[in-house]
Amino acid sequence: MYSIRAGSVERGLTGEIIKRFEQRGYKLAAIKILKAPETLLKAHYADLAGKPFFPHLMAYMQSGPVVAMVWEGKEAVKTGRVMLGATNPLASAPGTIRGDYSIDIGHNIVHGSDSVESANKEIGLWFPEGVVEYTRPHVDALI
Ligand code: TYD
Repeated sequence: MYSIRAGSVERGLTGEIIKRFEQRGYKLAAIKILKAPETLLKAHYADLAGKPFFPHLMAYMQSGPVVAMVWEGKEAVKTGRVMLGATNPLASAPGTIRGDYSIDIGHNIVHGSDSVESANKEIGLWFPEGVVEYTRPHVDALI
C-alpha cells in the first residue's frame, strides 16, 4: 500500500510515481485521491505516535490530498521499498523515487508498506471497500 504525500501531489509528481510502478510491471489494484481523516492517519501511524516528528508528519499528511494506491505483483513490498529508496532521501540512491525528487526526510514523497503484514493492515484501513481483482492476460505471463 502506497500513499503519495500531499506535497508530492502539490508538486505534480503523481503521474511520475504511478508511471514507475506501472512500467515496472506491477498491477494497480486500487487508487484514490482523498483528504486523509485524522483517525485514519492515527491508525496508520500508530507505531510512530511517540516520535518527535509525529506532529509534523500528521500535519503534513493533512496539508492537502494524498493519493493512496495498491500495487500487486512479484515481491511487491520488497521491490517497492527499493524503488522508493531510504526513509532519509539524502541516503537514497539516484534512480529511486525519494533519491530523485527529495532532500528532506519530512517530505520524502511517498509512503510504502514495510512488510506484507503491514501492507494488509494498511489496505484494510485505506480501502475498506476492497481492491479490484482482475487478470492481465497479455502481460502477466511475461513478467
Ligand atoms: P518510517 O515508517 O520510519 O519510514 P518509512 O516511511 O520509510 O517506512 O517513518 C514514517 C515517515 O515519518 C517517514 O517516511 C518520514 C517521517 N519521518 C520524519 O519526518 N523524520 C524522521 O526522523 C523519521 C524516521 C521519519
